[in-house]
Amino acid sequence: ALVNSREMFKKAYEGNYAVGAFNVNNMEIVQGIMAAAQQENAPVILQVSAGARKYASPIYLRKLVEAAIEETGLDLVLHLDHGEDFEICKACIDDGFSSVMIDGSRFPLEENIALTKKVVEYAHDKGVTVEAELGKLAGVEDAVKVAAKDATYTDPDEAVEFVERTGVDSLAIAIGTSHGAYKFTGDPTLDFDRLATITEKLKGFPLVLHGASSVPQEFVELNNKYGGQIPGAQGVPESMLSQAAKLGVCKINIDTDLRLALTASIRKTFVESPAEFDPRKYLGPGRDAIRDMVAHKMRNVLGCSGKK
Ligand code: G3H
Ligand code: 13P
Ligand code: ZN
Ligand code: NA
Repeated sequence: ALVNSREMFKKAYEGNYAVGAFNVNNMEIVQGIMAAAQQENAPVILQVSAGARKYASPIYLRKLVEAAIEETGLDLVLHLDHGEDFEICKACIDDGFSSVMIDGSRFPLEENIALTKKVVEYAHDKGVTVEAELGKLAGVEDAVKVAAKDATYTDPDEAVEFVERTGVDSLAIAIGTSHGAYKFTGDPTLDFDRLATITEKLKGFPLVLHGASSVPQEFVELNNKYGGQIPGAQGVPESMLSQAAKLGVCKINIDTDLRLALTASIRKTFVESPAEFDPRKYLGPGRDAIRDMVAHKMRNVLGCSGKK
């Protein structure tokens, strides 16, 4: 059934694991993720960005997710990723989403609080859970100085104030992750001291990690071997994600790894079987590649296998 994130996060928090939140844009991606969730008996969040809604159209995505629930019988959360204003959150809530993110992280604290509160009021009235964000993700990998970190990473005391004043259900925090395939120029580091402090101060409250793809080198190499050009791509090491999942982090966002797995597989088919032009012959293996990657995350990284 379609569920909001409340019970899912409560179980994840108490069980010291995290649920994977995977971005969906088309049928093969939905099916690949759901095949993994079924195989692993794992809770799952399917998330839709504004770009995904624009690409596939809201109704196709909603119907794909309905089909996924009907076919698998699994519980899942349908979540809006990075809602930028009240209007898109409202549209998704009205459209049947069970969870939304209002991303006011670009605003000063008071504006972020006011916007988040407005969404929380509308959402809670309809049984929908809300994720907000405090701190800035982009570009923080270049922040070598402590002062720069303090300006962009989530401030633990501010996080407490934010959660109390907004009534939000979960909070995305900035501790050194970033979106995309180029997360670190040097050695990967996350601010685990900060994460431990936030977990301590917000005891029992679910945290969210965005920009959490691990950019598996096997996919980077496959892409590059079969004609791709993504040199130097680097993600968050899986061991760090496991460590975060044992703390307050209950939701780990993954999009880039889906893209890498799917594209690597398609490139391989194109190069190895140049006579093929039936889309099922390259989208099918691409879907299997997504399934295997997601199953691996659930079992070996997030710790959510068998937690359904
Ligand atoms: O955080 C961003 C997600 O990876 C979604 O990306 O806006 O290109 O759909 P998108
Ligand atoms: P990645 O780019 O690391 O996959 O992050 C995805 C994300 O945070 C979606 O909101
Ligand atoms: Zn994100
Ligand atoms: Na956790």
